[in-house]
Amino acid sequence: MDTLKELAAQIGDCHRCPLGDTRTHLVFGVGREDADIMFVGEAPGRNEDLKGEPFVGAAGKLLDELLASIGLHRSDVYIANILKCRPPGNRNPEPLEIDTCTPFLREQVRLVSPRVIVTLGNFATRFVLKTTEGITRIRGTVQHAGRFTVLPIFHPAAALYDGSKRDVLFADFALLGEVCETARTANPEVHP
Ligand code: URA
Repeated sequence: MDTLKELAAQIGDCHRCPLGDTRTHLVFGVGREDADIMFVGEAPGRNEDLKGEPFVGAAGKLLDELLASIGLHRSDVYIANILKCRPPGNRNPEPLEIDTCTPFLREQVRLVSPRVIVTLGNFATRFVLKTTEGITRIRGTVQHAGRFTVLPIFHPAAALYDGSKRDVLFADFALLGEVCETARTANPEVHP
């Protein structure tokens, strides 16, 4: 498989797990195919399910503000989720769903080949870093997984319920700006 389009075609009208029966739209992912930064969220919510695009609800609005704070737009980055279909009532992803869906996320990571992966919240962080560490402890620390620099941060939805997390998110985005600059300087030939 050479392109995200081919990958999307392979996933098709997926019914590999039961979420295929309850979703409206499969939410594949969006953004630059050769982005330096890839964001990994948890799963589509109601708005994303209706639109077929990640982070288009209230959490997405905050994500757009956070991106703007470091001079980026969502079209500069790539955004995907652990699950491509909405769990009913926004419940947590189940292990079977994660196991079924994440091989496709791995392919997206391979094809986009970002320098930095930003994991949003516990599910994405635990999956990408293969850790059981909670997000409150690990957020804002620069990690590595294979050849990727990984920055775990709070999920933007968490800041909608707990305002104190908003400032932390903006601070972690400032760190993301620095991390990207460092990664670019260290290995300029990857994405000129
Ligand atoms: N929350 C997520 O984790 N992903 C989305 O796409 C929307 C909300």
